[in-house]
Amino acid sequence: MNLPALVHSRDGALFVEDCALADIAAQFGTPSYVYSRARIEHNWREIQDALPHARLCYAVKANCNLAVLKVLAQQGAYFDIVSLGELERVLVAGGRAEQIVFSGVGKRADEITRALELGIACFNVESEAELVVLNRLAAENDRRAKVSLRVNPDVDAGTHPYISTGLKDNKFGIGVEQARTAYRDAQAMSHLDVCGIDCHIGSQLTQIEPYLAALDCLLALVDELRQDGIDISHIDLGGGFGIQYQDEQQFAMREWADAIMPRLEGRGMALWLEPGRRVVGDAGLLLTQVHYLKQNGDKHFAVIDAAMNDLIRPALYSAWQQIVEVAPSSTAVLRDYDVVGPVCESADFLGKSRSLRVEQGDYLAVLGSGAYAFGMASNYNTRARACELMVDGAQTHVVRRREALESLWALESVLP
Ligand code: LLP
Repeated sequence: MNLPALVHSRDGALFVEDCALADIAAQFGTPSYVYSRARIEHNWREIQDALPHARLCYAVKANCNLAVLKVLAQQGAYFDIVSLGELERVLVAGGRAEQIVFSGVGKRADEITRALELGIACFNVESEAELVVLNRLAAENDRRAKVSLRVNPDVDAGTHPYISTGLKDNKFGIGVEQARTAYRDAQAMSHLDVCGIDCHIGSQLTQIEPYLAALDCLLALVDELRQDGIDISHIDLGGGFGIQYQDEQQFAMREWADAIMPRLEGRGMALWLEPGRRVVGDAGLLLTQVHYLKQNGDKHFAVIDAAMNDLIRPALYSAWQQIVEVAPSSTAVLRDYDVVGPVCESADFLGKSRSLRVEQGDYLAVLGSGAYAFGMASNYNTRARACELMVDGAQTHVVRRREALESLWALESVLP
């Protein structure tokens, strides 16, 4: 069995750092998300070391747990947010407003106002209509807004259609052909300081070429803007750095830097990035227990206590995530199982046709669950969301308690 860096085996039992997953399961119950502090820090440093001068704005949506944000704030992270909720989270975790970049196509007036009051680093503006609203709100609040326009370069990132964002059919950004006009308009607005240009072409990219195509498109625009007297001081190339879930090729950040940096040389523009998945994706797993084994016709099922509400990526994107035995049983027969949850949907599977040696009661770990896992979890089927744990050396900390059932209907009421 090929194990990724997050877990290692000691006498057949799986560990995260110095904590045995079977012990964690026995102590905290299942399902639970388990993150490794050391792995998050390692991933962060790997990106920063490859790009020592780049400003890394962690994409909070990938994993917004306060403990994760705090670990990254301690590494000197900036933060890319897409909602008021994410903004407040970053502040609670110890991030500062000047370290926040605000992305997203649908920022509400109250969200913009709060960000203006706090004086965030930059608004990544996604439409002309948003520019107008931002300028009006800045004027009303007697503030100035630092602005970057998210340009849609119409580049195919070669990723799953649901997570591709840089094609002109996507809702994101301002079309490259309208961008020059949008910049001129922004420059003329009284309360905006135009300072940047940005793009984010998609997530889980495994090729560097689409970044180069997007960069060239943005640089051509930067040259045109200079002719218009608009100086761009930073270029933000978004996130999207893919990780290896199965047999994808994960490019090294150093390779990426070697391809990108020469094109920025001599331009006097700072590079900003918004990595999410590459920071946390392989730093977490979903720990779950096998409740039943069953057979329908020729098909074998392992019914586990985690479900699509805990990890929706397989159902939503047909995503493949490795599933491993936490302590392989010596007596169980090796079989191909569909690993399914208790939710009443046929899309409720975490893996199909997985070769496993399991018995009822055994624990399994779904790897690659550090990003877009808890953050996309729901209470479907009135299932309480699982707890989040962070391993730090030989200690496991509860960084979000398992939800209490009563909390699931606490905000509801019945008619009088
Ligand atoms: N910046 C912006 C503006 C974004 O929209 C995103 C992700 C990122 C940065 C971070 O991208 P990353 O480095 O994590 O690829 N739920 C999907 C992924 C959705 C990504 C949305 N935007 C999944 O589970 O695969």
